Amino acid sequence: MAKKNSDGYLSARESRRISRENRRITDEYEKRRKRKNVPESEYLTTMRDPKNAVEFDDLHTYFFTDSGVVHSVDGVTFEVPVGKTVGIVGESGCGKSVTSLSLMQLLQRPQGQIVRGAIRLNLGDRAYDVTKAPNEVMQKLRGNYVSMIFQEPMTALNPVFRIGEQLNEVIRLHDSGHKTEEQVKSRTIELLEMVGIANSEGVYRMYPHELSGGMRQRVVIAMALACSPRIIIADEPTTALDVTIQAQILDLLRQLKSKTNSSIMFITHDLGVIAEMADYVVVMYAGRIVEKGTAEDIFYHPAHPYTIGLMASKPVVGKQVDKLYSIPGKVPNPIDMPDYCYFRDRCQMCVEACRGDYPREVAISDTHRVSCYRCGGAKGGETDGE
Ligand SMILES: Nc1ncnc2c1ncn2[C@@H]1O[C@H](COP(=O)(O)OP(=O)(O)O)[C@@H](O)[C@H]1O
Ligand SMILES: [Mg+2]
Repeated sequence: MAKKNSDGYLSARESRRISRENRRITDEYEKRRKRKNVPESEYLTTMRDPKNAVEFDDLHTYFFTDSGVVHSVDGVTFEVPVGKTVGIVGESGCGKSVTSLSLMQLLQRPQGQIVRGAIRLNLGDRAYDVTKAPNEVMQKLRGNYVSMIFQEPMTALNPVFRIGEQLNEVIRLHDSGHKTEEQVKSRTIELLEMVGIANSEGVYRMYPHELSGGMRQRVVIAMALACSPRIIIADEPTTALDVTIQAQILDLLRQLKSKTNSSIMFITHDLGVIAEMADYVVVMYAGRIVEKGTAEDIFYHPAHPYTIGLMASKPVVGKQVDKLYSIPGKVPNPIDMPDYCYFRDRCQMCVEACRGDYPREVAISDTHRVSCYRCGGAKGGETDGE
């Protein structure tokens, strides 16, 4: 734990000490990761359920920063079944992006490291634990099996290259030189048409700045789909778009998913979008999962006070209110998390039993789980709340 001055700041000496200590820890992780010729047995694994495309198992991802260790993802367990959409919802900074970047192994290195847990990826005939897979293996998995649609299309596209050239490059990179130039181009045109771009030949020759936001997001989706991945991670893909374009993009994703039978991990802070897209929902708070279940469970029977608060802060069409509800207080500091329930200081349903250890998971049904004493009590669990 970092020592602070009387004015609450880290001294330069203390910061240097933390920095040296971090370097020592992250160097170890990096050394493991960069090894060559790692035997397959180290990262081959078996899925707990072969019907799952991905299984996150007790994932802990930390950032070793100069002001201390940020516990961004702190023990996350959930699965993404084949052909289903799992929505991950929670306020900004709760660890949604870090969870998905852990699956892609695209964390900011060397600070960001997976320190514990497993992420099992189902490739059909075998399964890989991506937390143990070295860089050279990850390069093959990325794009071919898992790909990601980023929130801001302009940062995913290179402004100085034409759209066609950027898509061609992705196809060439993953095809390892089997396709001729004509075949690469016709695949690019096919992808542009698949994402609903009518003027595909024209767009092929355009630069990103010549397209509207919605069109650019379509191009980014085409790029993510270039190698028909089994798992698509969509990290807030519509947050930068206006509502009508958002509806079109969501529609497109739904159609593409049913065509390719891939699974989608859909990350958003927008509950309305989740309701439209997801089969299952995972609610995250401060790096942990507070509640998970089917979309119906979460929308019609939210049990955790945080989920109930999120639902209450959503505007309802046709209902006029002076002020929208907002959950009081703020998220605890991820460098210095309390040793009790992370939500306790903001919770309006806190009871005596909440002062015990955290988390205690309560299963309401086979799929619906909550990490909270109060909710367990409210739904007939085993607590002795007031
Ligand atoms: N590169 C980084 N260095 C330090 N901390 C980071 C880094 N990236 C993310 N974090 C921290 O991890 C936490 C989760 O971030 P993120 O997953 O991006 O949140 P969100 O749910 O909004 O996607 C935040 O507290 C954030 O400050
Ligand atoms: Mg994010």
